[in-house]
Amino acid sequence: MPSQKQLKWSQLKVGLTVTVASITLAVLIALALLSYSPHDSSFNVASQAPESHPARNWIGPAGAYGADVLFQVFGYAAFLLPMGICVLGLRWFRSHPLDSAIATLVGYAMMVLSVPSLLALWQLPDVRGAIPPGGVAIPSGAVTVPSGGVTVLLGFRDAAHAAGAALLEGARIATDDGSVGHHGLVTELLEDELDRDADREVYACGPPPMLEATARICAERAVPAQLALEAGMACGFGACYGCVVATRHGYVRLCIDGPVLDAALLVPAAEDRSRLGAARH
Ligand code: FES
Repeated sequence: MPSQKQLKWSQLKVGLTVTVASITLAVLIALALLSYSPHDSSFNVASQAPESHPARNWIGPAGAYGADVLFQVFGYAAFLLPMGICVLGLRWFRSHPLDSAIATLVGYAMMVLSVPSLLALWQLPDVRGAIPPGGVAIPSGAVTVPSGGVTVLLGFRDAAHAAGAALLEGARIATDDGSVGHHGLVTELLEDELDRDADREVYACGPPPMLEATARICAERAVPAQLALEAGMACGFGACYGCVVATRHGYVRLCIDGPVLDAALLVPAAEDRSRLGAARH
């Protein structure tokens, strides 16, 4: 039967091994994160052949792949991972008991998962100019609002269809039957807004006649506009030309050149129809 002294020594050896292993792992992860380069090969970056272009990451290809995954998932919060591993290793070595191991781990996981959302709100610079500060895997719900604020205009058939508008505080609503908000077209609200302040940019999506009217209203007031256009798409990768729209520079395919286009580039439908008619004769 091992003596008390032998037991203590073997516990110390296990503690020391776990601590050294954790700190080594933490240092490797930290170095991989610090030397992360968006130009290294990773799961979503196809770079040059590794034989001719070795990884810039200090921990080699494994570091490049690992750091990319961690930054994609957690953003800057990825640095919490080596810190957490280090703290756990040291606590193990000092034999500090965890009051509730499960509660501690769940709390730590929640903190790591919530920090990316916080980072996204702080508008920090991207990680190496390539990955958003809060990563891309955890939805942050953060919307960047220009300093001047935004005005949201929504058009619906009637009040029943407009129920979802309550999710957007302060949105102006128009309905065809006048059951809620302005009785009329949403483009009338747009004209009203731009007549009061034309120093705006317009972003619109909706049915083609509405977008056509939006383009016209904005052109009359020299207001820049970006329109999300719709078209039937048969192939979706530029082969069938079934989704073309006419622009001042010729026809473009919405599936690969759009679907969002600058309104100033679009040829009005009436003009386009006459052009097609002329071509037939
Ligand atoms: S859908 Fe086929 S070219 Fe756009």
